[in-house]
Amino acid sequence: MTFDAKLDGYLKDKKKLVDQALEAYLPAENVYPSALIQAVRYSLFAGGKRIRPVLCLAAAETVGGDIKTTLPVACALEMIHTYSLIHDDLPAMDNDDVRRGKPTNHKVFGEAVAILAGDALLTEAFHLMARTDLMPEIDPAKLLVVVRDIAQAAGYDGMVGGQTVDILSEGRQGDPDTLNYIHYHKTAALIAVSLKSGALLAGANTVEVNALEAYGHHIGLAFQIADDLLNVEGNKELLGKNTGSDRERGKLAYPALVGVEVSRQKAFELTQAAIEDVALFEERALPLRWIAEYVVERSS
Ligand code: IPE
Ligand code: IPE
Ligand code: MG
Ligand code: MG
Repeated sequence: MTFDAKLDGYLKDKKKLVDQALEAYLPAENVYPSALIQAVRYSLFAGGKRIRPVLCLAAAETVGGDIKTTLPVACALEMIHTYSLIHDDLPAMDNDDVRRGKPTNHKVFGEAVAILAGDALLTEAFHLMARTDLMPEIDPAKLLVVVRDIAQAAGYDGMVGGQTVDILSEGRQGDPDTLNYIHYHKTAALIAVSLKSGALLAGANTVEVNALEAYGHHIGLAFQIADDLLNVEGNKELLGKNTGSDRERGKLAYPALVGVEVSRQKAFELTQAAIEDVALFEERALPLRWIAEYVVERSS
């Protein structure tokens, strides 16, 4: 099998586990208030790559753990991510019309319900992570550490902080420190904590947890640089979202600040650093090496 076929198979298998679990945890569309549940389900099942939950499962597997026990937390990470996309697309933020190949949530359900669908996904993610009945094997004290780390990565010291600086930097002269603040916080924080959570839940030791978290920071930054590059030179049908919008909105992004070539080089270096981070796992890190390369070579 070629590299691409192996990676494809790996991602598909893991994504299937995540999709099945999400389906099991989410209410059916006709549950009251169905306007809200429909909006939540519309974005959650619109066909995202599921990279954060897959990384959570992959981290658990890399340290020899049972990936099934991480599924509620993995799904919660995807719910937090999907909420961030619904809000990111709102007219007050990036004002985007297309996401995951479909009209954005607010285009279909209106702004008020889109905001509420995001609120519900964020809140229900924490509800799901508190469902100790779904994770009888996990020590509740350990789960609390995981929940604390995820809250930190999603809040003002993480994704929401990054989103704030992203919005406030629009149309301004940026600098590399501000750009890196934005990218680490809005994107790398949630990706890094996905790996850290999977590792902690699977019983990894401190050295293993730190290695996986470092890998997450490196691929997380590379992931957002790749997102910036795809906004410049990607194919919008494959991407399932519009291109050229960063430039139109005067976003502080890698290609705008340092150019396409330097951005590509930086993403490549980060990938190599990530691969180094997981060298201690030897052949068990193979899927993580594939994913590191995929992050910068992807077209969607
Ligand atoms: C898009 O995330 C937003 C960023 C943080 C770059 P993804 O590229 O993971 O989007 P989906 O989940 O596959 O739609
Ligand atoms: C996404 O940032 C980061 C989030 C936390 C949602 P972008 O605004 O750059 O992502 P896309 O390009 O809309 O997916
Ligand atoms: Mg944005
Ligand atoms: Mg956006």
